Amino acid sequence: MPRKKVTMVGAGNVGATAAQRIVEQGWADVVLVDVVEGLPQGKGLDMLESGPILGFDSQIVGRNEYRETADSDLVIVTAGIARRPGMSRDDLLKTNMGIMDNVIKEVTRYSPNCILFIVSNPVDAMVYQAYKLSRFPKNRVVGMAGILDTGRMRTFIARELNVSVEDVQALVLGGHGDTMVPLVRYTSVGGIPLERWLPKEKIDAIVQRTRDGGGEIVNYLKTGSAYYAPAAAVLQMTEAILLDKKRVLPCIAYLEGEYGIHDLYIGVPVVLGAGGVEKVIEIALSPEEKTELTRSAQAVREQINAMKALDKTLA
Ligand code: NAI
Ligand code: 2OP
Repeated sequence: MPRKKVTMVGAGNVGATAAQRIVEQGWADVVLVDVVEGLPQGKGLDMLESGPILGFDSQIVGRNEYRETADSDLVIVTAGIARRPGMSRDDLLKTNMGIMDNVIKEVTRYSPNCILFIVSNPVDAMVYQAYKLSRFPKNRVVGMAGILDTGRMRTFIARELNVSVEDVQALVLGGHGDTMVPLVRYTSVGGIPLERWLPKEKIDAIVQRTRDGGGEIVNYLKTGSAYYAPAAAVLQMTEAILLDKKRVLPCIAYLEGEYGIHDLYIGVPVVLGAGGVEKVIEIALSPEEKTELTRSAQAVREQINAMKALDKTLA
């Protein structure tokens, strides 16, 4: 059976790191696309030459245009500018909207049947824009954030308790920003609720550090934002889609009434498989959790309204 085909748009930190992880798995051939001349070609060739050493046969090429991306099964969009210190995710909106507009035109032209997977920030708004511009069915447009945010929360809990990250389960819903909703009630270690392991002050500190997780890395790096954990999250979603794993993962999905939210992309648990978002899972929320999710949805809606004001075709 021929290998699947993945296009990675954006050969920067997240795109290149995720592309490397994908070809190393051998699941798919990858076309790496970036506007910077030579960048995707150089990184692609460099990764290809690691194949004989690591033992993978997946092919990877870098291009500045989309012809060779034709008929991709999966297109992952990481193109855009990254956050810098002092810059909010919202500051990115205008620039990244223009980039997304151009990318979606090319992707829909060359890979009309692909699953479209958005990473670029502000990601909840960018996925919404990609959905509206592509006119793909909602299940074929998905965004990444919850796995990263949950990964951060699981890391902090495992460090605090000095236990394996593998035994920590957590769930972060909502928009990928300051209003994200880490769900402590759905967080457990070895099946034991987190509240039995830690006092409230410690849990509150972990929740806050999770919300600030992106900024914490930006403050260290100064000239860019996180990419190793984001690329790992991209890999997990790619595996679920390419191998039809039907994983239950927090992803950014289109809601049409679930959780009382309409016409919005936001982080919720979904079943992710070959069909993309095969199911949105609705879990019972307490009144406080519901209020937090509604507030987060409102923050995402404000971004979308700002986007609609800039681009009337989205209205
Ligand atoms: P980066 O600056 O290292 O790479 C971005 C790449 O996009 C650059 O190589 C640039 O040349 C390219 N690019 C710009 N315009 C393009 C276009 N029209 N077509 C193709 N390529 C284009 O940034 P990094 O760190 O890779 O982050 C990429 C995006 O992902 C940012 O918006 C960042 O905020 C976002 N991000 C989102 C996360 C999430 O959880 N959803 C996590 C981490 C990053
Ligand atoms: C993060 O959370 C930049 O959104 C990205 O690290």
